[in-house]
Amino acid sequence: MAVRLFGRKSRPRVYVTRTLPGDALDRLREQAEVEVWPQEPPPSRDELARALTTAEGLLCLLTDNIDAGLIDGAPRLRALSTMSVGYDHIDVEACTRRRIAVGYTPGVLTEATADLAFALLLAAARRLPEGERAVREGRWSAWHPSFLLGRDVYGATLGIVGLGQIGTAVARRARGFEMRVLYTGHAPQPPKEAVLGVEFRSFEELLAQSDFVSVHVPLAPETRHMFNDAAFARMKPTGFFVNTARGAVVDEAALVRALKARKIAGAGLDVFEHEPKVAAELKKMKNVVLNPHLGSATVEVREEMANIVVDNIEALIAGRTPPNCVNPQVLAKS
Ligand code: DGY
Repeated sequence: MAVRLFGRKSRPRVYVTRTLPGDALDRLREQAEVEVWPQEPPPSRDELARALTTAEGLLCLLTDNIDAGLIDGAPRLRALSTMSVGYDHIDVEACTRRRIAVGYTPGVLTEATADLAFALLLAAARRLPEGERAVREGRWSAWHPSFLLGRDVYGATLGIVGLGQIGTAVARRARGFEMRVLYTGHAPQPPKEAVLGVEFRSFEELLAQSDFVSVHVPLAPETRHMFNDAAFARMKPTGFFVNTARGAVVDEAALVRALKARKIAGAGLDVFEHEPKVAAELKKMKNVVLNPHLGSATVEVREEMANIVVDNIEALIAGRTPPNCVNPQVLAKS
């Protein structure tokens, strides 16, 4: 039995920072007083701070920065649930200190994000945005032997940085393209090597040997800016860099320098260091495919995420352990 964070009879006040797809919020309304931030742009920090003076539950997104100051100013907050697999925007330590449960939505977005990583890899390698623009703008006059030549994906070497759920799903896709797949991480994972035919390398070796490098690590102090000048300098000048993880895993200024100096051939980017701002130089580069953080953006996945984010809060209101909790220790009896 989990420790009850909410009173047995109360209908707690839950603040929701954005309307969610599907009918998950209707379900929540049966158990709680739900207040939804009504408009775009999302609530500012001050607006969020105001709401948190009375909220007992919070349902937030990855764009809401829930720092220790906000947590300290939320005397009644018992639980929060973020509609994301990443929780780098939440000060989990501060929540745990205050015995606030933190829910998240892992698992459901794995395949959609892997699809998008592969889409960006293909789009960058085969110059799809450039081709699309050429057709629309009437700059395609005839088939030409050397018009918009890209790079082979089939049979090339893919380096996966972080062989977790999403990295593994990308490796499975790469098998269909008969790619050689290298991976790096804390330690080799022999069971996955046996199933997927992937090969462990040090970070440096992987960068030097891969034609495509795809990032799948969470943002944490040890991964912030792991892609810096030195990392890009190790990549092949014909290599492509794909990021569907978190923007701040990359020193974006270093990426711009690497692309400008042709230290790498191109990039496919779904995430950025200062979202929604994107470095002006990146927007000018033809060899960079830009996408507005859409890894999990399918109708099916977003509805599923909305359901899970509500399931987490509902379970906590009912005194049950939520299906996905980052800090379950707050629910343990002391
Ligand atoms: C996440 O959930 O963390 C993704 O970045 C967006 O779906």
